[in-house]
Amino acid sequence: MARIGIFGAGWVGLVTGVCFAELGHDVVIRDVVAEKVDALSRGEVPFHEEDVPQLLEKNRDRLTFTLDPEDVVGCELLFVCVDTPPTYSGDADLSRVWSVVEELPALPGRPVLVMKSTVPVGTGAKVRAGLDARGLAHVGYVSNPEFLAEGRAVQDFMHPDRVVVGAFEPSDAEAVAVLYEPLDAPIVRCDVNSAEMIKLAANAFLMTRISFINEIANVCEATGADVVRVAEGVGLDHRLGPYFLKAGIGYGGSCFPKDSLALKQLASNSGYHFQLLSAVIEVNELQKRRVIGKLKRHLGSLSKRKIALLGLAFKPNTDDMREAPSIVLASRLLAEGADVRGWDPVADGRALPRGVEIAGSVLEAVDGADAAVIVTEWPELRDLAREEVRRAMANPLIVDGRNLLDPVEVRAAGFAYEGIGRPVSPTDVFPETAEPELDPERQR
Ligand code: UGA
Repeated sequence: MARIGIFGAGWVGLVTGVCFAELGHDVVIRDVVAEKVDALSRGEVPFHEEDVPQLLEKNRDRLTFTLDPEDVVGCELLFVCVDTPPTYSGDADLSRVWSVVEELPALPGRPVLVMKSTVPVGTGAKVRAGLDARGLAHVGYVSNPEFLAEGRAVQDFMHPDRVVVGAFEPSDAEAVAVLYEPLDAPIVRCDVNSAEMIKLAANAFLMTRISFINEIANVCEATGADVVRVAEGVGLDHRLGPYFLKAGIGYGGSCFPKDSLALKQLASNSGYHFQLLSAVIEVNELQKRRVIGKLKRHLGSLSKRKIALLGLAFKPNTDDMREAPSIVLASRLLAEGADVRGWDPVADGRALPRGVEIAGSVLEAVDGADAAVIVTEWPELRDLAREEVRRAMANPLIVDGRNLLDPVEVRAAGFAYEGIGRPVSPTDVFPETAEPELDPERQR
């Protein structure tokens, strides 16, 4: 079993740490924030991620949290799991990566520095030079990007589709590859630049699929097709596959928006205009705003209208609101003069603009509302189209931003319904207006 050091006790660092501990390794996790280190040492996880608290509890004996970089001395592998947020120019901010390199203590033997953070192509070569300049030429370097999705990170770690190991020296690659052997996944061994690009390309491709299906959804709306059926029919082609073809109100989160900007910027820094990626980003921005148009079509002016935003996290099973579509929607609605009430089962809504009221329950959120918008597909919202909700609302309109509900059932329950890329019923616009009697005389 190895002794593993991890720099950064954020989401990636902690998931990586508890999973390696679960595989039997001794893990030292170092962070610069004292409160975080203290809380983790007490067994408290500072964010919502399935299975992490249990694995932390179960492997307490193999996990150490510390502020002191000297505590990683003796570790054979040193994982870098610090964040790389975008700067104003869209480049990735690597200052935390460089802090780790600067703070590395004198290290005996041949430990390997392993980059898990998402970094621009070329970073490994620069870090290699930085290590050499610091007299740490004996420290190996490997790029081992993470492909974990929030809400299912432990499962993704334990059952990866592949493990990517990019190295300058084959022996360094080997030292990292053996760690993953028990997971029985394909290991892609390559050069460091290619490993860095695999991560950026994989995320860009996933985002491209989302923006693609969102544009198909928009064309479906214009032509009367149903994007849910279309995605099903398209996804059954084995060359295309069913994944990341769910139309909605756009992607958010701590990775996609930042990584798309970083790749776009990386390309343009190198003299290449990445046209397709620019369109993917723009489509996503416009997609978040289309809900406003849908609401206006039903309600006219949104001034003084009460709108419930149901689901605030950027996706279900997380409390993460970074770049969540709910933030853009709330801001646009406030700008239109609407009264906005938000609800989420775990996200606290602090990231929302001032002026949004937070409700403690779905019923409280929809009370007196002119429309309810499903922003995040939480399972708790599956039975939204029920009698007590309809009675509580001033106007029973559901805009389903994630195509969570069955339009036929929702309409049968007395609601007006609009999804994303799904046929609109002519009666939806005025749900409370009875069908006019047809006068056979006038028909002639
Ligand atoms: C994403 C990738 O899926 C991970 O592989 C990657 O490791 C991670 O970024 C990262 O770079 O660290 P994550 O951001 O946690 O993971 O979430 P996803 O499940 O990929 O969802 C991202 C966004 O896309 C969400 O807002 C989701 O609602 C949206 N989405 C996803 C769609 O709109 N449609 C889909 O079909 C799938």
